[in-house]
Amino acid sequence: MQVHIPLKKVVDDSYDITIDELSKIYFDTKVAVVTNKTISALHLDYLLSKISAKELHVITLQDGEEYKNQQSVDTILDSMFEHRFNRKSMLIAFGGGVIGDMTGFAASIYQRGIDFIQIPTTLLSQVDASVGGKTGMNNKYGKNLVGAFHQPRAVYIDPHFLTTLPSREFSAGVAEIVKMAVTFNKDFFEFLENADLKNPKILQEAIKQAVETKANVVAQDEKEQGVRAALNYGHTFGHVIENETGYKKFLHGEAVAIGMVMANEMALKMNLMSEKEAQRVKRLLEKYDLPTAYLIKDAKAFYEAFFLDKKSSDSSITFILPLGIGNMVITDKVDVGTVMCVLNKFGKQ
Ligand code: NAD
Ligand code: GLY
Repeated sequence: MQVHIPLKKVVDDSYDITIDELSKIYFDTKVAVVTNKTISALHLDYLLSKISAKELHVITLQDGEEYKNQQSVDTILDSMFEHRFNRKSMLIAFGGGVIGDMTGFAASIYQRGIDFIQIPTTLLSQVDASVGGKTGMNNKYGKNLVGAFHQPRAVYIDPHFLTTLPSREFSAGVAEIVKMAVTFNKDFFEFLENADLKNPKILQEAIKQAVETKANVVAQDEKEQGVRAALNYGHTFGHVIENETGYKKFLHGEAVAIGMVMANEMALKMNLMSEKEAQRVKRLLEKYDLPTAYLIKDAKAFYEAFFLDKKSSDSSITFILPLGIGNMVITDKVDVGTVMCVLNKFGKQ
């Protein structure tokens, strides 16, 4: 016997990303703003001068990637239950990628899913984490291993928040901007080469172009079955670097910057990119004080660590390699000899 459930779905999850000073918004429902202590001290008053709701609560979490865990997600959920949130209630993620990912995840599981809005406050979260609906948290087995695809209803990017961002955090965001330009948009890369992102007007334009690039990728491949994997350029190497250094020495964007230089070295070996193009990417990263060097002490151990990455399988490693500037290939067919040759090169600095 067989019972068939016809469940073909037509879902419209489209949303707008507004890049501008926040305008006044009223929500005719119960809302909780989820933030952390740092952002709350700096920007909560500003936010509350812009948004209001039928009933508004603020949930303030601890600051740090180490708090991107079940306990923090439970704090969000508990607060919603205590305030009798229902399926029409809403969450607002007000912070960097850590807050955005956890808030989105809590929204995805509260009473099987409610709406949420992203108001990202770091450059990295404005150009990358707030867009595209990847939500989640870490657990003892690794980073972002528990989560859901749950698109926000809207994203409001107000560059005003960046005025208080520490310069290392700013540069970490620039790394993700460079990532999108190298893999998808040559004109954008050339714009970045000639631009000064410290200039607010130019920065706003760069945010717009990065967000457009990401939005275009997500629209083609929401669940990362294909082209979305290209957004992991630099990450395959970067994750191993973060892991080897205990997530303490480098910010994520810094590890990605080194990872992009390593991926470029591989692309160079495979004649996908010229020496001149690889130098241009390195120069652009260095212009924003991003690290581009890393000493690999044990190439074999570094190689083995690739297999802990979500994107790898038991027998193959997925690399995102630039094809010149403005294009890329996603491949799991790089032979071990080539990989080891690249890793050994970074062992001899
Ligand atoms: P973060 O959220 O930890 O923020 C970095 C630091 O800056 C924190 O200490 C934060 O309190 C502080 N901060 C935030 N806004 C500030 C402001 N305006 N002024 C001063 N300080 C401010 O880190 P992040 O780099 O924003 O995000 C990293 C996280 O994002 C990681 O957990 C990563 O996994 C996730 N991420 C998710 C996606 C996605 O698609 N969902 C993409 C990239 C990264
Ligand atoms: N940061 C990678 C992605 O959103 O797919």
